[in-house]
Amino acid sequence: MKILITGGAGFIGSALIRQLRAQSKAEVVNVDALTYAGNLDSLPGLQKDPGYHFELVNIADRTALEQVFREHRPDAVMHLAAESHVDRSILGPNAFVQTNVVGTQTLLEVTRAYWAELSHAGEPGHSPRERFRFHHISTDEVFGDLPANAPAFTESTPYAPSSPYAATKAASDHLVRAWHRTYGLPVVITNCSNNYGPYQFPEKLIPLMILNAVAGKPLPVYGDGGQIRDWLHVDDHATALWTVLQHGEIGATYNIGGDAERTNWQVVEGICEVLSERRPTGPRGGGAYADLITSVTDRPGHDRRYAIDSTRIRTALGWRPAHSFDTGLRETVQWYLDHPEWVERVQSGAYREWMQQNYASR
Ligand code: NAD
Ligand code: TYD
Repeated sequence: MKILITGGAGFIGSALIRQLRAQSKAEVVNVDALTYAGNLDSLPGLQKDPGYHFELVNIADRTALEQVFREHRPDAVMHLAAESHVDRSILGPNAFVQTNVVGTQTLLEVTRAYWAELSHAGEPGHSPRERFRFHHISTDEVFGDLPANAPAFTESTPYAPSSPYAATKAASDHLVRAWHRTYGLPVVITNCSNNYGPYQFPEKLIPLMILNAVAGKPLPVYGDGGQIRDWLHVDDHATALWTVLQHGEIGATYNIGGDAERTNWQVVEGICEVLSERRPTGPRGGGAYADLITSVTDRPGHDRRYAIDSTRIRTALGWRPAHSFDTGLRETVQWYLDHPEWVERVQSGAYREWMQQNYASR
């Protein structure tokens, strides 16, 4: 099986590719534009792997995408490429509309034309055309703000996105469903909760707090820090994606979550605790890690709570996460301590500009 993965140089895409190449026979074509969030260092050793191919292509570039499909003839598409950071979407929404909406629509059109030409030959249900899948990877943020005592999001929770990021992901989910209903494209959709783990770009909460704490910089908690997210280890997400691609029902949606609701305060305090054990010398400049925690101006439109009900994927497909949040967080802190060279390479000039833009005026 040959899988075309978009966004494979990002956090989740790279975890998926590492897992597929290590644990399955699937060949992978990684289509990635290498934006600030894409980093080939997150795919160590794969450049020499004959079952891995890289294509430097923007998903909004129809001609280049058509060429990739002609050359590689994939059996499935897993679509992860996106602009993914909420704060960036607030300061500059255009790139989000361009990649998440226009890019997804372009990819859908190129995929549809390719799929329409696939052969019907073979046993019923087993022809290349019938076996083909388009797997769209999305987020729980499309469901919007969940009240404190409300039950977790299910696959039938209505969409109510709050941020430009969430609105563009919601738009892309609608496009994918429309391409299934109108043109019959065989799609599956997954909506996952917040991921954490190795190789996450340090603009997101967990890696940002780990690296700031070590460097003795403030740990900027937005507002009162009582916002709740449902955390899932990225390797568990990758396992869920592979399960859904192979066994998911065409046209169906699966929610994926870790059953690990934590407030942002709990997460940041947890990181400080792990660091105190693992690196007891304390932050650069002295003092205690937890003393660096600082309340800063809240994010506009900040959703208070997300939580996922993953009953469907658990009961229908037998998936469940292997990591508990507490052990996963420990391992993640240790990974960042052990990989200063990866961290240094992603903290480029563009990264420093972003830190200035997002945090200086808070
Ligand atoms: P990421 O920002 O780490 O990676 C995105 C990747 O897409 C990068 O490699 C980037 O270079 C590439 N990319 C961006 N624009 C592109 C374009 N126009 N053409 C080609 N490549 C492009 O994101 P991530 O955290 O790995 O998220 C992957 C997907 O999973 C996204 O669709 C996101 O919405 C979804 N998701 C993320 C989370 C999370 O917690 N990170 C949770 C649920 C769902
Ligand atoms: P983030 O990692 O950006 O993911 P998302 O917004 O997609 O859930 O943020 C997770 C939570 O942490 C969210 O409630 C915002 C909060 N947060 C902070 O308090 N401070 C920060 O510096 C960042 C980046 C996030």
